[in-house]
Amino acid sequence: MRYGPPPAPGELDPAERMSVDELRALQLDRLRWSVRHAYENVPRYREKFDRHGVHPDDLKEPGDLAAFPFTTKQDLRESYPFGMFAVPRERVARIHASSGTTGKPTVVGYTQADLDVWAEVMARSIRAAGGRPGDLVHVAYGYGLFTGGLGAHYGAERLGCTVVPVSGGMTPRQVQLITDFRPRVIMVTPSYLLALLDEFEAQGLDPRASSLEIGVFGAEPWTEEMRKEIEERFGLHAVDIYGLSEVMGPGVAQECVESKDGLHVWEDHFYPETVDPFTGQVTDGAGELVFTSLTKQALPIIRYRTRDLTRLLPGTARPAFRRMEKVTGRTDDMIILRGVNLFPTQIEELILRVPGLSPHFQVELTRPARLDVLTVRVEARPGFEARDQAAETLRRAVKDHVGVSVEVAVTDPETLERSMGKLKRLIDKRDN
Ligand code: DLL
Repeated sequence: MRYGPPPAPGELDPAERMSVDELRALQLDRLRWSVRHAYENVPRYREKFDRHGVHPDDLKEPGDLAAFPFTTKQDLRESYPFGMFAVPRERVARIHASSGTTGKPTVVGYTQADLDVWAEVMARSIRAAGGRPGDLVHVAYGYGLFTGGLGAHYGAERLGCTVVPVSGGMTPRQVQLITDFRPRVIMVTPSYLLALLDEFEAQGLDPRASSLEIGVFGAEPWTEEMRKEIEERFGLHAVDIYGLSEVMGPGVAQECVESKDGLHVWEDHFYPETVDPFTGQVTDGAGELVFTSLTKQALPIIRYRTRDLTRLLPGTARPAFRRMEKVTGRTDDMIILRGVNLFPTQIEELILRVPGLSPHFQVELTRPARLDVLTVRVEARPGFEARDQAAETLRRAVKDHVGVSVEVAVTDPETLERSMGKLKRLIDKRDN
């Protein structure tokens, strides 16, 4: 598995070479601009700040941001479609939206300058992942209102790559295109990559013999165990990319291939905080991620509650930028089972340690009587017979590591639904 040497200093963006002090100074200037821009151009921000008794002039150092009110998905929903935009609609060059599970989608907008910044941070991300100008990049994130496809696309173009805009779906054809075009880099959700892996094997092809050397995987949580599974079966370097449409799209944070130790947040454009998800108090690194945009024109976002749980750590491969640990899950995906908190990622880790169990699984919550029951449905690997034994091993592992009893059903291969983009792991069948 090759990825070449880390980028030479001359290949990096000037911001990637900043000292922490230079970065903090830049952030303060930009924070003050962004908060003022929001206050002066978005009535909803003005009302919220006024109601909260804060004013942009109060922001004298980054820590003062903690006095400003949070922004939530609710704010965007209630301003549907364009009420949070800080520029006239005519200056908005592009719209994206994320489909809410309930109600209206969340609409976001970008000026041409915003699109430029996005392409720049995505190019930086692909380079950190090991991509280089001239590489062929297979983009299998969905194109359309979802930010994954177009975000990856313009970033790869900006880096100077050859882009193949495949989008999601038509899995057999994806395998054909990978075989024929010989991309070095693939950008896709980790769950859809698994579907591609299976398709390689179904066609009698060895995935390790493919041209792919780098995979840039994100848009959903995945674990170190999944990294190992993908790297071994595909013979490529699997690195994590994070982002969300409200803050920009993919490219808010990126893991560096040479360290694979969490994702560097591109802090010259996105200012991170962590808060206690229940009290909203700022914490010392661990908790729910909160982002403030520093340069966005069309949709400035101030203290956006992401609901993603992680921990902020000091920078390594890009020393000035803090890292975030791989996201454990969203506060909305946390299952409280008989008083114990549990995330699907914990189940994923344990499944992949049991020989014979595949990475294809779902967790289902039901309430047959008064108590909630959680059933893990997981596919056996092809040809694996000792299913009862594997189910028992997993049941015991969940009891030992998470502290709660679950049901395990090991199913035939190819029986669980496959995602072509973001996978929904949790199926809640409780009535209330
Ligand atoms: O998923 C943007 C994206 C596209 C990121 C492609 C990476 C690659 P949304 O549809 O708005 O945007 O969903 C954002 O997805 O709040 C997280 O809960 C989750 N998410 C995104 N990246 C990761 C990741 C895109 N690397 C929501 N690990 C976020 C875990 C992730 N969760």
